[in-house]
Amino acid sequence: MASSERSKVEVKGFEAKYYDELMWLITLGQYHGLIRRSVRDTGVSAGHHVIEFGCGTGIAASEFVKIIGPNGRYVGVDISPIMLEKAKKKVGDLPNVAFLSLRAEEELPFHDEFDIAYTSFVFHGFEQPDRMALLKNAWEALRSGGKMCIFDYASFDIEKSNPIVKYFITKVECPLAAEFVMSDLGEMFRDAGFTNYSEKLYAHGYLRLACGEKP
Ligand SMILES: C[S@@+](CC[C@H](N)C(=O)[O-])C[C@H]1O[C@@H](n2cnc3c(N)ncnc32)[C@H](O)[C@@H]1O
Repeated sequence: MASSERSKVEVKGFEAKYYDELMWLITLGQYHGLIRRSVRDTGVSAGHHVIEFGCGTGIAASEFVKIIGPNGRYVGVDISPIMLEKAKKKVGDLPNVAFLSLRAEEELPFHDEFDIAYTSFVFHGFEQPDRMALLKNAWEALRSGGKMCIFDYASFDIEKSNPIVKYFITKVECPLAAEFVMSDLGEMFRDAGFTNYSEKLYAHGYLRLACGEKP
């Protein structure tokens, strides 16, 4: 689907070039650590096969690759050449790692082959049909028993949230993020056919790792 004017997840230009530095500044140095924690909390282990949607500069990828080791496999897909280049540099040239220029919501060439599907800070910026298309792609790519995990904003009442969070979600983030925060992610997972939905909260409950299993 074409990119949405209500979204800011298609990172370009200056933001793409200095993505890691900007995220470090915005989160006062917390971003990389949070992503790494969320990766560990997916339950990934040595030998696992992992696919990541919107892998960006490879922050999660470098943690996944460390954990899965040489017998695992990691595939990162993204649409930004700048972000993909940075990810390749960060992770290095390994035979069991691939970074591919593909749209996460379009049909992908992966079927029943991954243990973990993961995405961080991408899902909130998709229009609803694209969110469901991404979940469908994750479902298709996972083997039976595999797990889809989304690390992103949690569900909370924006009006009652911390004033800085409220300002960030309503004025800095895209309009889709505010919609996402008020939507039912568990229902989306269930509608896509996932079971055993679980959530783990981070950052005072404003972020969450949501996971579901492919039966
Ligand atoms: C906000 S960044 C998050 C990057 C990384 N996951 C992280 O947490 O640091 C969003 C990423 O999603 C990628 N992206 C946006 N739309 C996409 C799409 N339709 N398919 C694949 N990647 C996409 C962007 O290029 C960018 O790298």
